[in-house]
Amino acid sequence: MERKWWKEGVVYQIYPRSFYDSNGDGIGDLKGIIAKIPYLKELGIDIIWLNPIYASPNDDNGYDISDYRSILKEFGSMQDFEKLLNALHQAGIKLIMDLVVNHSSDEHPWFIESKSSKTSPYRDYYIWRKPNEEGKEPNNWRSVFSGSAWQLDEQTGEYYLHLFSKKQPDLNWENEKVRKEVYDMMTWWFEKGIDGFRMDVINFISKVDGLPSASEDKVGADGYAWGGEYFVTGPRVHQYLQEMNKEVLSKYDIMTVGETGDVSPEDGMMFTGSDRDELNMIFQFEHVNLGQGKEGKWTPEPYRLTELKTIMDKWQKKLHGKGWNSLYFTNHDQPRQVSKFGNDTIHRKESAKMLATYLHTLEGTPYIYQGEEIGMTNVQFESLDQYKDLEILNKWEEIKHTGTLTEEELLKGVHINGRDNARTPMQWDESPNAGFTTGEPWIGVNPNYKMINVDESIKDTDSVFHYYKKLLQLRKEHLIMPYGKYQLVLEDHEQIYAYTKTLEDEKWIVILNFGDTEVLFEMPLDIQMKNAKLILANYVTDERDNLDKIMLKPYEARIYAL
Ligand code: GLC
Ligand code: CA
Repeated sequence: MERKWWKEGVVYQIYPRSFYDSNGDGIGDLKGIIAKIPYLKELGIDIIWLNPIYASPNDDNGYDISDYRSILKEFGSMQDFEKLLNALHQAGIKLIMDLVVNHSSDEHPWFIESKSSKTSPYRDYYIWRKPNEEGKEPNNWRSVFSGSAWQLDEQTGEYYLHLFSKKQPDLNWENEKVRKEVYDMMTWWFEKGIDGFRMDVINFISKVDGLPSASEDKVGADGYAWGGEYFVTGPRVHQYLQEMNKEVLSKYDIMTVGETGDVSPEDGMMFTGSDRDELNMIFQFEHVNLGQGKEGKWTPEPYRLTELKTIMDKWQKKLHGKGWNSLYFTNHDQPRQVSKFGNDTIHRKESAKMLATYLHTLEGTPYIYQGEEIGMTNVQFESLDQYKDLEILNKWEEIKHTGTLTEEELLKGVHINGRDNARTPMQWDESPNAGFTTGEPWIGVNPNYKMINVDESIKDTDSVFHYYKKLLQLRKEHLIMPYGKYQLVLEDHEQIYAYTKTLEDEKWIVILNFGDTEVLFEMPLDIQMKNAKLILANYVTDERDNLDKIMLKPYEARIYAL
């Protein structure tokens, strides 16, 4: 096993807009993050990933960048950024930034230039095509955020490609100049001292030549089709990442994590294999996409625990010793993990601790999304117009035309899977607006903040927060947590998820109840519990327990060293 700081560290993800507002304008900011460094230090995290903080018209909350080298005014100044970086480094915390280069904002000077005429030297910084024979969009691809992936520019009579919103035109990675601009910009940030990048939708950057339409049978009620086969992990993506690695990444002691939707463990090895010189790790989506129904995330359906096991088992095994996993359930695009994978009412605390035990004992680098460490939950706003996320709002527009869902059905789906579940303000204390702002927050606060907040979590020694602290401390003391080899126990059980971890002559067993009822765990005969020592549990356990037959309480989690 090759030891690396980015394998042993725990990442804490900050969505700056919703973290802490220092000046009462209702928007979280960089000074707000600085103010909370002591809190993060207390929790014991090692690395922070910041969602985009660059200049942006905020069509997609900063994922539409108009200047890669300046800070969004609402968040602060470049000086504030430098102070933040400095203060984090002083506290022994590393900082990784978001790199959003599949697309820029349509307000980026490159795009403004590109759009100005067909002969602009910036024209082929983006992907422009003539209308098809019928005078319509060049192909039938649907954008991730509903509607066509093409937008007509009246002035030049051509369409530009945008896999996301029409304010997020795709950069043309086939153009060497574009790649050089990106590498220069990355180098500029590394020279400032940042410690790495999380790379937004990085496996979408290379498109199949000719941009073929998806087959007719994929076309939906909206008239468009998902064209993923022509750009997901496209033809030259590995070539570009190797080039980026050679030109930039290899020169610094940094970490990289690629956001890669729709990838297999085999792809995962291509991106993260230690002999590949591409990325350190990726975010795969198979486990968080469990339970999608006919309208995808908007029509969730139950899924089985064995499905989760099958997915995670293959990722753990395929990457063991050769690649590297990122471990997460929640981020700014996903619902809160207790709401989706646990129980956000009577067993909220226990299930939050159980899920944490799971993520932090798998092989890989765990990510904690802000608020996860206090067991924050999904929110249920009463009407769709209380939501801010353009994915939700665009879907709402779409269904008004297609009728594939009623508003009630969509709202139900949003309550379970909408991205704003993760974006409501961080709950600091029981004062108005959860102590997030003294002003009017940019998005509503979850009304449960009087019960669930940092203040309460710090005072209560049995809280989710204190459990995370213990887990993080343990991870610093036991290399078996990040590096140990995972082996599933009781593969077919639909409620108990148990596995052993092995590192050299050390062996642990992790036993998790993923259900809200009691369940009997019968230790397999080949696992000797005679000298077992309890490492951590989320309930009080009795030393006289018969460890060969354990009656697990709802969402109980136990770790034993064998
Ligand atoms: C990624 C981001 C998401 C954003 C999208 C477009 O999936 O995580 O928040 O909307 O890319 O940049
Ligand atoms: Ca502010």
